[in-house]
Amino acid sequence: MCGIVGYCGDRRVVPVVLEGLRRLEYRGYDSAGIVYLQDGEVVKHRAEGKLVNLESCIGDAIIADSHIGLGHTRWATHGAPTTENAHPHSDCSGELVVVHNGIIENYHSLREELKEKGHLFSSQTDTEVIAHLIEEYLEDDLVAAVKQAIGRLEGSFALGVFWTGMADTLVAVRNQSPLVLGIDKESGSFLASDIPAILPYTNQVIFLDDMELAVLTPEHRIVYSLTDGREVAKETKTIEWNAAMAEKAGYKHFMLKEIFEQPQAITNTVSGRINLESGVVNLPEVGLLPKDLEDIDRIFLVACGTSWHAALVAKYWIEEFARIPVEVDIASEFRYRTLLMNRRVLTVSISQSGETADTLAGIRIARKMGAKILTICNVVGSTMTREADGTIYTHAGPEIGVASTKAFISQLSALFLFSLYLGQIRGTIDGATGKRYGRALIDIATVVAEELPRLQEEIGSLVENYYDSRDFLFIGRGLNFPIALEGALKLKEISYIHAEGYASGELKHGPIALIDKDMPVLALVPRDKVYQKSISNVEEIKARQGRVIVIGTKGDDYLHNITDDVIYMPEVDEVVNPILYTVPAQLLSYQIAVKRGCDVDQPRNLAKSVTVE
Ligand code: F6R
Repeated sequence: MCGIVGYCGDRRVVPVVLEGLRRLEYRGYDSAGIVYLQDGEVVKHRAEGKLVNLESCIGDAIIADSHIGLGHTRWATHGAPTTENAHPHSDCSGELVVVHNGIIENYHSLREELKEKGHLFSSQTDTEVIAHLIEEYLEDDLVAAVKQAIGRLEGSFALGVFWTGMADTLVAVRNQSPLVLGIDKESGSFLASDIPAILPYTNQVIFLDDMELAVLTPEHRIVYSLTDGREVAKETKTIEWNAAMAEKAGYKHFMLKEIFEQPQAITNTVSGRINLESGVVNLPEVGLLPKDLEDIDRIFLVACGTSWHAALVAKYWIEEFARIPVEVDIASEFRYRTLLMNRRVLTVSISQSGETADTLAGIRIARKMGAKILTICNVVGSTMTREADGTIYTHAGPEIGVASTKAFISQLSALFLFSLYLGQIRGTIDGATGKRYGRALIDIATVVAEELPRLQEEIGSLVENYYDSRDFLFIGRGLNFPIALEGALKLKEISYIHAEGYASGELKHGPIALIDKDMPVLALVPRDKVYQKSISNVEEIKARQGRVIVIGTKGDDYLHNITDDVIYMPEVDEVVNPILYTVPAQLLSYQIAVKRGCDVDQPRNLAKSVTVE
């Protein structure tokens, strides 16, 4: 949440920072701002709302002859999303500026203290306190002043700081909010809260760790530990993503592009990890010895939002293939409940970003209690991957649409592989079954690729009847129950239609009271082992004048007898149905949101990478 971009070097800074902000806008779009140094003067532009507003108020300043600056795109925490509250924030002199991601928990008392000392505040943000606090300690050494100020701050923060007194230097600090440094030997140094911001310029990066401070000049990047004050030797990493991967590539929205990238995401996640002949899964990156995996007697899956839905599906797979009891927790609950944990428990975090604050807190607690930690993650080098014993990377590529799609599909693919791997190690799955399931997973990428164009068209003509609904229910059974939850989440977050997901069998325990002609229901009814039960649930809805869209198996003509709108899916091994059935649910949500004129890629109030609690 909130995007930070900084640059110092030979390039003109304004276009670099604006481009970076454009690529980080998924982290927040309540307001945006930029600051740079020109002829010794600090120039600041800020605007409420999306980045386009900032761009239009910048005008000719785009070609300003300036080579150092900072930018910020905000997801509001303290203070309304107004121009006054937009970052960057300055001290009293206006010569020191700060951009911040995170929350300063003791900002109120610091603000009162600073006010008493004569500091004048012009915003309601917690961030402005940081600028004034640094000013309070500043004599002639910005780094020393930042260090002193940090010692007074409580909470989470990633900071970019700039002062006219050290005109070629940016200072960056990380504590519980991500920051990455970029290195381009030709053109200078970059700072960003996420990798896509700097991909057009470099793929050479340094990940800051908590309580580290970096001093950036065009030629150097020196990192210090804030704990012992010493310089830290940091490793430079090469990022495999490229700038084009974070572009729309002709699609109307990132979300649509990312839905269409799903076959590739599955293939990338699966390939090289499973032997096509034998079905044997190889996952050395799990970071645990087969003996340790044999000893596990319980697994916690911890995640938020869409990633939590992937965890719910994985529970079915792991319990079925590996016969280990699995508990699935929403991370914000997990971190505050009494946990019965020991060395024989494996905790698995599932996260696209690898930075979600609650999930991160969850694995830290589990580690302290002696559990082994595995993470399923999409972003290389993210905090979760650095803190876990092992990481199974999902290779979905950069996901820019705020509503997660391809990351979810690749999480499912990785979790399916992991479940098979566990089953194979523990001997709970025989060779033939392992081979059959492995084949089903590999083949699902081709099936999704083949079906996508047809689904896009078919669902496009269906939405006419449903797009103006006020409410929606999604139902499914077994492996497809979490997909009903995911379908409902997708619809509500991008179209603002109230939607709920239910286990089909739960309907008659309450929600069926909602059924009438104004409450459409999307029912997932593949021909699987609970097919007859699912059919009965649809009939119960129809008997109450409900409108039902059924997603079912090709060739199942009976579905047309019980409902008008059927989306047919090819028959695949039922263990991989959740991967396949996610796709029409995503497309339905997407098409409805587009038809309603919603901002699909940047839905209101949301942001990607939720780094605050
Ligand atoms: C919904 C969505 C969110 C994320 C959640 C967790 O479309 O994207 O619900 O899934 O914020 O994020 P990660 O996976 O980055 O931990």
